[in-house]
Amino acid sequence: MSNNINIPDMDDLRRVFMKYSQQTFNKIPQLPTKPRILDVGCGSGESTILLAQLTDGDVTGIDIDMNALNKFQEKLDDSTLKDRIEILKESFIENDFSNESFDLVWAEGVFHIIGYDKCLQESSRVLKNGGFLVALDTIKVINKHLKSLDKFGFKVIDKIIWQEGAWWTEYYEPLERKIKYLRDKGTDPSLFKHLLDHEHEIAMVKHNPNEFDCAHYIYQKVIKQKMKVMKSG
Ligand SMILES: C[S@@+](CC[C@H](N)C(=O)[O-])C[C@H]1O[C@@H](n2cnc3c(N)ncnc32)[C@H](O)[C@@H]1O
Repeated sequence: MSNNINIPDMDDLRRVFMKYSQQTFNKIPQLPTKPRILDVGCGSGESTILLAQLTDGDVTGIDIDMNALNKFQEKLDDSTLKDRIEILKESFIENDFSNESFDLVWAEGVFHIIGYDKCLQESSRVLKNGGFLVALDTIKVINKHLKSLDKFGFKVIDKIIWQEGAWWTEYYEPLERKIKYLRDKGTDPSLFKHLLDHEHEIAMVKHNPNEFDCAHYIYQKVIKQKMKVMKSG
């Protein structure tokens, strides 16, 4: 009986925020044809897939969570995008990417986990001059790190501020409703354990919805001018 009930997975819920990712991408001033893109902390690949759909470039998704990456790989198996997407189990802290090898670094909800300064430093190293960095985090976290940008050679180009309280109204409130619905229907809890695992987050965000207000920021790696050495005499 309960098998007929539609039980979303976390990606189904997360996808509601991809509109902000798309709006942010549209605000990037320019990218070369066939850009090389790095998606840091790609998880199960929703943003990586979107970036491949929005460009004609090659997109590399990295994460340290093998379960998420396996899920990502399954999504790609039947996809025509698989020739342009590379999935790597790799940490952004110690990576093998060459200096100045990417046109765009994309990072949704991961810099605050790794550490902002380290991420700005690595992004600056792997980005070409004039390349773009897009980072999604809470506004609180972003504001704390804006002053470090200059040190790592970045400037703010633009931003997309999410709808106030979006984590509650668009994600956790619908999740809470879904759990209630499944419980009321008498659905076997083992079928929606992956939803129940987030109950503590539901309580936290419900209690203080604005604490988690987010923004996507677009930064540009400031183009370094080659210094002309003037000979005297
Ligand atoms: C909050 S999740 C965000 C996932 C996805 N970007 C999204 O927005 O749905 C953070 C992700 O960063 C990954 N992560 C944590 N530390 C990392 C590191 N050192 N290098 C790469 N990814 C990392 C985690 O495994 C997780 O998938």
